[in-house]
Amino acid sequence: MRNKILAANWKMNLTASEAHDWLVKFNETDSDKCKIEFRLYAPNVFLSDLVKSRSLHIGAQNVHPSDFGAFTGEVSIPQLVSVGAQSVLIGHSERRTDFHETDAFLKEKVNACCNHALPFIFCCGESLEIREKGKHLSFVRAQITTAILHLSHTDLSLLTIAYEPIWAIGTGQTATNDQINEVHAFIREVLRESFGVDGANVSILYGGSVNPSNAQSIFACPDVDGGLIGGASLNASDFLELASSF
Ligand code: PGA
Repeated sequence: MRNKILAANWKMNLTASEAHDWLVKFNETDSDKCKIEFRLYAPNVFLSDLVKSRSLHIGAQNVHPSDFGAFTGEVSIPQLVSVGAQSVLIGHSERRTDFHETDAFLKEKVNACCNHALPFIFCCGESLEIREKGKHLSFVRAQITTAILHLSHTDLSLLTIAYEPIWAIGTGQTATNDQINEVHAFIREVLRESFGVDGANVSILYGGSVNPSNAQSIFACPDVDGGLIGGASLNASDFLELASSF
């Protein structure tokens, strides 16, 4: 049984008072909060306050693979866990592109999450250039092969995948349903080849310009188990409206 997940990725947005207002709105708004697991990936400075509210699953947007040490400005898994973070994003394309995080480095983060039994969303996805060359499937396979396929079956239970084509993130240009389902089905097959039925049951989220007007058709794709939502998650009502698209 694959979990349905709707995850907000605030990125580096909102101030403390705006974050507070978002949560108040989220809590006030009527929506079927049982059908879907709501998650919020918030900036680290807000995590402990958000966790205290106990309204939804709270995660971090990034983590360093070391437990401690001379890594100024970074945050470790024990630190995240100590404030109640329940999961973390690994390999978001903005981390890969803007901060030059390689698949090998991301594998270290994945292994660190497994060592601490911390659930994680592994993000993958191709650039427009790679897609135009028709190499998107082999590119995504390579991202997953390096960072994920060595996991044990026990560790696999910590994994959620987010497929986010880079050209669709924050651009307003959503991938078509055929493009989305092709890659999701492909990822599921890659996981099934390595892990059998456990692999096929990993939830795969789509991310990239999902909004209330396109969510219904995206979430109807058979291999899409939910969404990782950036821009449309900054407004709590828009985010919750997405839930009615399942
Ligand atoms: P977007 O961002 O919804 O603004 O495209 C998605 C993401 O980067 O996770």
